[in-house]
Amino acid sequence: MTSKLTIVDHPLILHKLTLMRDKGTPSAVFRQLLREISLLLTYEVLRDLPITSRSIETPLEEMEAPILKGKKLVFVSILRAGNGLLDGMLDLVPSARVGHVGLYRDPTTLRAVEYYMKVPDDISERRVIVVDPMLATANSASAAVSRLKEVGATDLRFVCLLAAPEGIEAFSLAHPDVPIYTATCDRGLNDHGYIVPGIGDAGDRMYGTK
Ligand code: PRP
Ligand code: URA
Repeated sequence: MTSKLTIVDHPLILHKLTLMRDKGTPSAVFRQLLREISLLLTYEVLRDLPITSRSIETPLEEMEAPILKGKKLVFVSILRAGNGLLDGMLDLVPSARVGHVGLYRDPTTLRAVEYYMKVPDDISERRVIVVDPMLATANSASAAVSRLKEVGATDLRFVCLLAAPEGIEAFSLAHPDVPIYTATCDRGLNDHGYIVPGIGDAGDRMYGTK
């Protein structure tokens, strides 16, 4: 069994992603583009949110109008770079709860090292959307999802901007029950585990740390 994969290749996303890939794009513009793309990814990942209806009066007449059924959501950002997707998602769903899993990738082993975790107590009752722009080896995303399952999460989806085929395969093996949403799937990984052609180090490009 493999994870269900959705490639959200809307022309607006592809255009903005090209601007992000350009190494000359400054951090402020890079962050803004990521935030804009996150709105479009959120639209797709929440497409099947259940709705109900409520009786309202328009200026002309009464009607039964659709509203969200109140499915409880939690967005979980994999620090640091996940925060670049999180902000736009919260613009669309301000009432969502937020969790954080702090992980960094050891540059030698490429293993994920956890340094922080804080999620809502009732995570087992919520739909959990895990966000990180990059799915490279998938060590980080797989470790984050494993930790979330350990604390009770059962209804999970993973959203990223760029994925490598190797990452999609590894994540699917580890978590076949968790659908993946990505804007694109690039050619592969280089010898340092970076996605190519890619966008470089997402966290560094967001925050100007290199
Ligand atoms: C980046 C990225 C992912 C991870 C992806 O984070 O944001 O979390 O690498 O790589 P993987 O799929 O091979 O695990 P990084 O470790 O650079 O930390 P940062 O977000 O703090 O910069
Ligand atoms: N992490 C990044 O930020 N970029 C990559 O290409 C791979 C992992």
